[in-house]
Amino acid sequence: MNQIDIERTALRSRMLGGIRSDDEGAELELAGWVHRRRDLGGLIFLDLRDRSGLVQVSLGPDWTEPASLDLAHQLGAEDVVAVVGSVVVRSPENRNTEIPTGDIELRATVLRRLNRADTPAIPVYRSPEDALPSEELRLKHRVLDLRRSELQENLQLRHRLVLACRNYLDKLGFIEIETPILTKPTPEGARDFLVPSRLHHGEFYALPQSPQIYKQLCMAAGFDRYFQIARCFRDEDLRADRQPEFTQIDVEASFVEPDDILGWMEGLMVALAAEAPRIQAEVPFIRLTHAEALERFGTDKPDLRFGVEIQDWTHALARLDAPVFSAAVGEGGRLRGLLLEGGAKLSRRQIEAVEGSAKVAGAPGLLWAKCSDEGGSGSLARFMDEDAYRELGTKTGDLVLVAAGTDRMTSPALSAARLAAIEALEIPEDREHAWLWVVDFPIFEEGADGALTANHHPFVMPHPEDEDRLEAEPLSVRGLAYDLVYNGVELGSGSIRNHDPKLQRRILRLLGLDDAEIDLKFGFLLNALASGAPPHGGVAFGVDRLVALFVGADSLREVIAFPKTTTARALFEGAPTPLDEEGLAELGLSLSRAEDQAAPARTGEGDGEQVAHASGAET
Ligand code: AMO
Repeated sequence: MNQIDIERTALRSRMLGGIRSDDEGAELELAGWVHRRRDLGGLIFLDLRDRSGLVQVSLGPDWTEPASLDLAHQLGAEDVVAVVGSVVVRSPENRNTEIPTGDIELRATVLRRLNRADTPAIPVYRSPEDALPSEELRLKHRVLDLRRSELQENLQLRHRLVLACRNYLDKLGFIEIETPILTKPTPEGARDFLVPSRLHHGEFYALPQSPQIYKQLCMAAGFDRYFQIARCFRDEDLRADRQPEFTQIDVEASFVEPDDILGWMEGLMVALAAEAPRIQAEVPFIRLTHAEALERFGTDKPDLRFGVEIQDWTHALARLDAPVFSAAVGEGGRLRGLLLEGGAKLSRRQIEAVEGSAKVAGAPGLLWAKCSDEGGSGSLARFMDEDAYRELGTKTGDLVLVAAGTDRMTSPALSAARLAAIEALEIPEDREHAWLWVVDFPIFEEGADGALTANHHPFVMPHPEDEDRLEAEPLSVRGLAYDLVYNGVELGSGSIRNHDPKLQRRILRLLGLDDAEIDLKFGFLLNALASGAPPHGGVAFGVDRLVALFVGADSLREVIAFPKTTTARALFEGAPTPLDEEGLAELGLSLSRAEDQAAPARTGEGDGEQVAHASGAET
């Protein structure tokens, strides 16, 4: 069978990026954007651009029609043109080694303008010295920004990763099933985006925070293996690694235990890494329990590229005459710290900066000592004696940092200090690609008000060994839950689910819901579980985060075609937009100032001081 020519269209015979010197003499019709025009008096050079790359087009009186030559003089940046000409191999001194097509040029006989472009608000062509325009400007003029080769490549890689994912999961027997966008709230720990119902005034759909409940329903329905490249919506405070609308690779399977999911997903990461030259994935990935991750690294997403670990020095240091130590231990806390080899070379200011990161993470401060032959220096040194240094295992030139207090305080503080110290000391990586599963997350957390909240979502199956402690010691109950972490970034999380409706109800009750609320909010799920749901479990990965890591981008906005700003605005198209009185009336809504209302239904944060009220209950 003939290979399909995927480049040819009515207006062109080839795309630009693949033309090489072995095409010499070929007569081609090319089309694209004027990336750059250089006018050398008689001769005109155009850099023509499409998504595949650039080709130099030359126009001159000896080979170009006069009208085309005239037109070439008038072209502006980003005009859209078509040219007809032949491929010529450039002389050695004219070759451009910077671009793959740099050995050739197209000598154009005919040039046509297919469309004019206004003077670009931000340049697409930049010389290497030119800085990028501000991100705000780039988002405002996103169509122009997207023409940059970096963003073109990011989105092409995104496509290839999603395609590789679909192919991989398809081979394993997973089928893609679409779940609704207009839904009932699914708890994932963020606020819901709500959509008012025109037909049912006073009632709202929620946009899905994830397809969590629906994928469980799919298991109850017997689909056995589901996946979806699923759009999710969360109204939460945004950061560089969060968007209000983002995409998950969402997976669920029946009759599984954690090893099934973890094994398949390791294979998925290997398949995805094969698409991205920057990333390597060697399986099996390291596994740490949640308790161990917190003990050794102070966080549930440790960056295992570096070996530095948190130590428990309660035994060695509690006897010292330091009031903060006795106070901390007296209150049930511990004395934990970091031993940084060669860390004494840090200046006081640098150490204070490391301490500063621990303070931002909630510690009142750190005690520290630089170790030297004459003893030590620093806020910890005056309490230390030789035995204490020996027990800590220090050498001359080391730095010791200690945090005293409850684990809840010292863990995040030492985790932050660990990363800051690694950076300050420029500690080399033990490995470049640190993949890690953190397993056995606790089911519950203690909320600020002391009430239990779900550590993740409430549908996680308790560890069989811990189930009988659910009511008596809920905070000690582990779940069959796991997160995938790459170089300290959480890429995904999942769990084996609770398929037992009675056990699920017990957990929802522990989360403070009474039976009536449980039936109202989750009755449909419990009924599905009670209809004979198989044991099942799954996982979801953030596509945007994965792609950002795989292309080395700092922000998710570099891998999303039309992203939102950190205040959740779409700058190019201008969203969100106000609704006029008529539109509000149709939805049965009226607007009022937040401060005039006692307990309004919140629609957002930040600049959203307006709140929506349903004006009619039933129609
Ligand atoms: P979770 O809430 O951990 O789990 O989400 C899974 C992954 O989705 C990505 N992610 C985000 N990416 C960009 N912007 C956001 N605002 C955002 N929030 C989350 C992260 C995260 O690891 N239903 C469960 C999964 C399961 O149990 O199967 C869930 O959604 O990479």
